[in-house]
Amino acid sequence: MKILITGSRGQLGSDLVKYFTTDFEVLGVDIKEMDVTDPAEVSETFDSFRPDIVLHAAAYTDVDGAEADTEPVMKVNAEGTAHIAQSCKEHGARMVYYSTDYVFDGRKGAPYMESDVPFPINEYGRSKLEGEKRVAEILDNFTVLRTAWLYGAYGKNFVRAVIRRGWQQIRAKHDGQIVTSVKVVNDQAGNPTWTMEVARQTRVVIENNLRGIIHATAEGETTWYDFAKEIFEYLKMPVYISPCSSEEYGSAAVRPANSSLENVVLKKAGLNVMRDYKAALFEFLSQTGELTE
Ligand SMILES: NC(=O)c1ccc[n+]([C@@H]2O[C@H](COP(=O)([O-])OP(=O)(O)OC[C@H]3O[C@@H](n4cnc5c(N)ncnc54)[C@H](OP(=O)(O)O)[C@@H]3O)[C@@H](O)[C@H]2O)c1
Repeated sequence: MKILITGSRGQLGSDLVKYFTTDFEVLGVDIKEMDVTDPAEVSETFDSFRPDIVLHAAAYTDVDGAEADTEPVMKVNAEGTAHIAQSCKEHGARMVYYSTDYVFDGRKGAPYMESDVPFPINEYGRSKLEGEKRVAEILDNFTVLRTAWLYGAYGKNFVRAVIRRGWQQIRAKHDGQIVTSVKVVNDQAGNPTWTMEVARQTRVVIENNLRGIIHATAEGETTWYDFAKEIFEYLKMPVYISPCSSEEYGSAAVRPANSSLENVVLKKAGLNVMRDYKAALFEFLSQTGELTE
């Protein structure tokens, strides 16, 4: 079984490569080896590697940057995804496209199911939804795996960023400087999900040939503020943090107030291997906590 993994230097792509390499023939490619917006490069990669399965984790993920200039985000997340789907069709490869909780507006007041109608409220969400549509138009045999609030050992993510800010504050306090609290948004809720859990769930999905739209997030929801508190408590870091509103934080992109997902399809099939977010977080921190300092 040959697996092509796009976005292989990103957070999720790195863990997908690490996880699948043990049992499969894997080719990981990122923008330098194969720019998904270039159909010729995509074709060449498929022709030479001839994948059976494609895990498409490459994406334009700068949610705030996407608001300023909508062209690149659509080009990568919609058109680039269509190029991958087209090559999958030509080669008879099975495609898994990673999508996001940001396809929803966050106003439902309960976790979103796969049957809920998406309504994105920012450019990133619109581009990922457009990617989903292109995949479904081009392929019969596809999986859209919607996940959320990803963190892992590689790349930029909330867990690593908040630990870094915590250590900055602890050092400043130690050096006798005036410290400011770490401000964390408290009016957005979701399911923080470890990339390694998504890799494990992806394998279960592939091996059981699950198709269509599938939600795959950690169990349980929290806010960014409570999540930060849990991280500092687990690491026993004496950090002074305070909650703030999204408006006060002032990001360029508006984000859903509560974009929690329910893994309905996985649970109905008896194939949900996503754990509670705290269990996954604590395992992640026990492995990498001190490295993220
Ligand atoms: N992060 C989250 O919280 C989250 C939540 C839900 C769903 N997702 C989805 O999960 C997937 C993985 O996310 P992630 O957090 O691992 O993203 P990431 O860390 O930003 O990784 C994405 C990778 O794709 C690469 N890339 C960008 N443009 C490309 C292009 N034109 N051709 C080829 N590669 C390109 C990026 O390279 P550069 O770094 O050089 O741009 C990066 O290495 C994405 O589909 C994302 O939409 C993410």
